[in-house]
Parts: sequence; C-alpha cells; structure tokens
Amino acid sequence: MHLALVALGIGPEDEVIIPDFTMIATAFAVCYTGATPVFVDADPNTWNIDVTKIEEKITSHTKAIIPVHLFGLMCNMDAINTIAKKHNLKVLEDAAEAHGAEYKGRRLGSCSDLAAFSFFANKNITTGEGGMVVTNDEELYNKLRYHKNMCFPLDGPRNYLHNDIGFNYRMSNVVAAIGLAQVEKANDYRQMRIHNNQLYRELLDDIPGIQFQKHNNDYLNVAWMNAILVDEKEYGHTKHELLEYLRSNNVDTRLFFEGMHRQPSLKKHGCDCSGMFPITEKLTAQGFYLPSASSLQEKDIEYICQLIKTFAK
Ligand SMILES: Cc1ncc(COP(=O)(O)O)c(C=O)c1O
Repeated sequence: MHLALVALGIGPEDEVIIPDFTMIATAFAVCYTGATPVFVDADPNTWNIDVTKIEEKITSHTKAIIPVHLFGLMCNMDAINTIAKKHNLKVLEDAAEAHGAEYKGRRLGSCSDLAAFSFFANKNITTGEGGMVVTNDEELYNKLRYHKNMCFPLDGPRNYLHNDIGFNYRMSNVVAAIGLAQVEKANDYRQMRIHNNQLYRELLDDIPGIQFQKHNNDYLNVAWMNAILVDEKEYGHTKHELLEYLRSNNVDTRLFFEGMHRQPSLKKHGCDCSGMFPITEKLTAQGFYLPSASSLQEKDIEYICQLIKTFAK
C-alpha cells in the first residue's frame, strides 16, 4: 500500500480519502508518505465506504481514494471511479481482504489504477507475510519496480548513484514460490469460504436481530470473514453477552475494527477526527466475526448457529 502510494506520487500536503471503518493499515500507509488520510463513514448495507459521502470530503489537496473491500465484498467501483474521474483523483484498491471477489463480472484489483493485496497468514491465500501490488499502467508498474528496490535504475549499469529514496519491498524467491503454489488452490479456498458463508446465512436467517453484509447480484462476495451485527433489542442480548456465551461453549470470535476517527495515533498525525460517523459507530458496537477458516466443517457451522439460536430471546 505504501509502495503504491509512493508510485502515485502522494506526499506531504496531500490528502487521501479512506473509509472510516477499515483496518488501520489503510490509514498508516497514507501516513508513511506524509499525507493525511481523510475519513468517510460506512454504508449501512455493505459496510464498505459510503459512496454518497465521498464528494463532501474532497478538497483541493485530495489526490486519491482508497476503497477497502471489506470481509470479501467489493465496493461500488463504478460510483468511486466516476467521482475519481470527475475530480481527477487516482484510485488505489485495498484488496487485502477479498482475493477472488467480483464486481459486475470484473475481478478484484482490475477496477482501478492500482490494487494492493495482503498475503498475511489469515488471508484467503498466504505467503506467511507479504503482499502484491497490481496495475495495468506501465508507467506506474515501472515506478513500483523502481521504488521497491532502493531506486536502483531499472536499466543500464549500476553505478550506485540513487536519484530518489527507495525501499526494500522485494519479495524473496522462496516466498514467491509458496505464493505460486497457493494460487493453484485459490479457487478451492474461495469456494469453501463462499459455501460456509451461505450456510451461516441460511441457518441464521430466521433469527431476529442478526444481520450480514447486504449486496445485490452485481457482487460476488467471497466472504473472507463471516461478519455479523447483533441488534440487542431484536436479538434479546448484547453482542458481548452472545460472545461470552459462545466462548463458554468453546467458540472463539473476534471483534470488529474501531473507526479511524477514534484512533489516537491518527489524531496525533493531524487527521481531522471530528464529525459524525454513525454507521462506523454502529458497526463497532454491534459487529463481530464468527469462525471463518476455509477448513470449517458443516457440522461446526451447524453447532455455532444452533448456539446462537438457543441463546436468542
Ligand atoms: C483492509 C486491510 N488492509 C491492509 C491490511 C494489511 O495487510 P498486511 O497484514 O499484509 O500488512 C489488512 C490486514 O489484515 C487489512 O485487513
């Protein structure tokens, strides 16, 4: 993500629009360049960036938008690209969480100037740590190659004179070999996650107060995480009571992110953390992840859903 922003020429004085509801890595990458992340609230249905609230955050300093495809569901890329074109902004997809997802038949990573994937151990495919940036733009591609390797010249002799400040963001051959082997399995893992998510949705469908991400047929949600919201009034218990009950029955869960506007580190960096982010607040208050590993068995999901059903009032 950092390398992609460097390739786009983002630096101090610039602003980059990101969702308020995301993993903090999105915001940190912007901070590394000296630019300022600007937060946009989440969409109440998809939980991704609310495309109707992006334009009000654009200023003369805005240079790019980073849509984050949360939990396996892509953002509304047509709307984002239309806004970007109108305001002459670049689009960098944070594709960390949605390998193999589709929007209107287009694969994740192909709907923007650049996209950054994560291969961390909990992702759909992994190299342990590391990631990948993709682009269709030859100029950006060469800038990525240049900056990832200490700004050694791409052609010509190595005289050890460096015209720009570069990084070591190289992937080792050994790690790349693991990644290639993982790619062979990517479709199988994708199918397992989609299947598990469909089963969760079916089994929890008639329980009041449980909500999944909502989307129409334009989207293929690869469900990296089985993320749900618990409405206390309708379900009859708070999220924390449910999590405690699941834990007492040996089911582990994880909480949702905190909004970027609540992050002390970003406030210190000079981000504008004022303003209202009611959807992020709701997601953080009500949301958590059910077990989501590709290897989950149907009987595990049935057991978990039965617990949620039994505990409902
Ligand atoms: C949305 C998002 N962006 C970026 C990252 C960072 O990826 P990595 O852990 O490979 O640095 C993550 C990691 O989980 C993420 O969820």
